[in-house]
Amino acid sequence: MTQKFVNDVGFVVNKVEDILVPATSKNGRDLRSGLLPFQLVKYFSFTSLGVILIFTFFLSWFISSNAREVMLQQSEAYSILLAENLNQQVFRGFVLPTVVRYGKIALSNPEQFERLDLIVRNATASMQIGAVTIYDSTINIVSYSTNDTLVGKKNVGGLEYEKALTGVANSQIVSSGTVLNLFPGAPEVHCRLKTFIPFRQVREDASSEGQIMGVIEITLDLSKAYAAIVQLQARIILVSSSVMAILFLVLLVIVSRAGKIMDRRVEERLLLEQQLNDAQRLAHLGTMVATVSHEIKSPLGIVRSTAEILVKRIKKIAPGNENLAEIIVAETVRLNNIVLEFLDFARPQELKLSPVDINRSVEQALLFVDPELNGKNIRLETKLDPDIGQIVIDPDLFYRGFLNILVNAIQAMLDGGVLRVQTHNDESSGSIFISIQDNGAGMDEEKKNQIFKPFFTDKNRGTGLGLAITKNIIEQHHGSITVRSKENEGSTFTIILPRKI
Ligand SMILES: Nc1ncnc2c1ncn2[C@@H]1O[C@H](COP(=O)(O)OP(=O)(O)OP(=O)(O)O)[C@@H](O)[C@H]1O
Ligand SMILES: [Mg+2]
Repeated sequence: MTQKFVNDVGFVVNKVEDILVPATSKNGRDLRSGLLPFQLVKYFSFTSLGVILIFTFFLSWFISSNAREVMLQQSEAYSILLAENLNQQVFRGFVLPTVVRYGKIALSNPEQFERLDLIVRNATASMQIGAVTIYDSTINIVSYSTNDTLVGKKNVGGLEYEKALTGVANSQIVSSGTVLNLFPGAPEVHCRLKTFIPFRQVREDASSEGQIMGVIEITLDLSKAYAAIVQLQARIILVSSSVMAILFLVLLVIVSRAGKIMDRRVEERLLLEQQLNDAQRLAHLGTMVATVSHEIKSPLGIVRSTAEILVKRIKKIAPGNENLAEIIVAETVRLNNIVLEFLDFARPQELKLSPVDINRSVEQALLFVDPELNGKNIRLETKLDPDIGQIVIDPDLFYRGFLNILVNAIQAMLDGGVLRVQTHNDESSGSIFISIQDNGAGMDEEKKNQIFKPFFTDKNRGTGLGLAITKNIIEQHHGSITVRSKENEGSTFTIILPRKI
């Protein structure tokens, strides 16, 4: 692809290229760098949400473990109270009478065992106690238990038993289960508190403690309370996660909307800057082209008339040798046309408005290119909207612009094809649409973005001004021109003109 300035007329190419250099992307970068604080705010918001979420998990763990601690402390105090009460009842109701009656305590005697069992069960009835176990003081053996299978077992007391023997009441928690156990099908959570207190003789005067005779173990089943705490923990996690998720979604929506708005603004500003730069460049270019074209026109006229005289003279002196001079005449005619086109592009155009039947103007242009269409084996399909009527435009300029697009379409269809031309009156927007579709060479994205720039051409004998002039004309009418194209499939140019300027 070449972007050439018509060297044939000897223009200073470098100068023009300088003018044609697109607006620097530095400004774009400056504008985009304005987005940086927004990006920072975005990352800060998402990071803080993440931090709050992690903090919430810790908070839920802290609250539930605190609740569990409080529950265990209260249960332990209650359990110790129960055990001490049991200590008194067993000593008074069983130990004293048994020693008086049998001389010593021997729980292997079923009568003694049953009596102790009766007292323990009476004392703990309706108190939601899981089990009561009494250990011997001399060896770690279960002397009595409400759980029959434990009676007579050795070394089941553990460290807590040893500690209680030294006179210190203490507890052990046996629990299992987490929030994961709340899922259906998972085993239930359970928690048992085992409290060990020394089993003492009861003295009438409370001033001194009685001798330790064994250890009483009371097991409280706290599964329900423990399950309630686990549920509380799950609820905190669930609620905070849901709140975080909602916050996250809201933030996401806000951020993406804000992002889109900011992107749009940047794009708009970039476009405006681009348009401004283009306008400035075109103004410079226009002045330069007008000056140079003007300077070229007169010598070109002299060269042409001189060459024409030469043709006549050579015909007389040496007939048959005049073709060299004829080439000069043909080329000066071509250069003159190019110069005229340059001048047209550079000169500010004044619109000469009048009501025009668009369909008629389109048909005239199509009639003009008809021989070309036939010669190139191009089939024409038209669909002209009869409702279009007349609109106020500059007929000559419109004709020129429309013809430029037609000529391009024909040139793009080297092996023939179909040229579709449509007009349409759009009531809702108060505009008219004119589309020119060819199934010729088409364009890739890069080319498509260049074609409206002046002097962009890939044709050997093109100036690259056709579409630039057409765009100028359409924009002077407050309209727009767009193109859709696919390489090797064809292009569609659409002109939109307001009914009223
Ligand atoms: N219908 C089309 N199909 C494919 N390419 C096209 C079509 N119309 C325009 N182009 C491309 O756009 C370029 C610019 O077109 P433009 O009319 O401005 O200049 P040109 O046709 O090259 O020269 P001229 O000034 O003689 O019209 C063309 O060189 C061509 O590459
Ligand atoms: Mg053209």
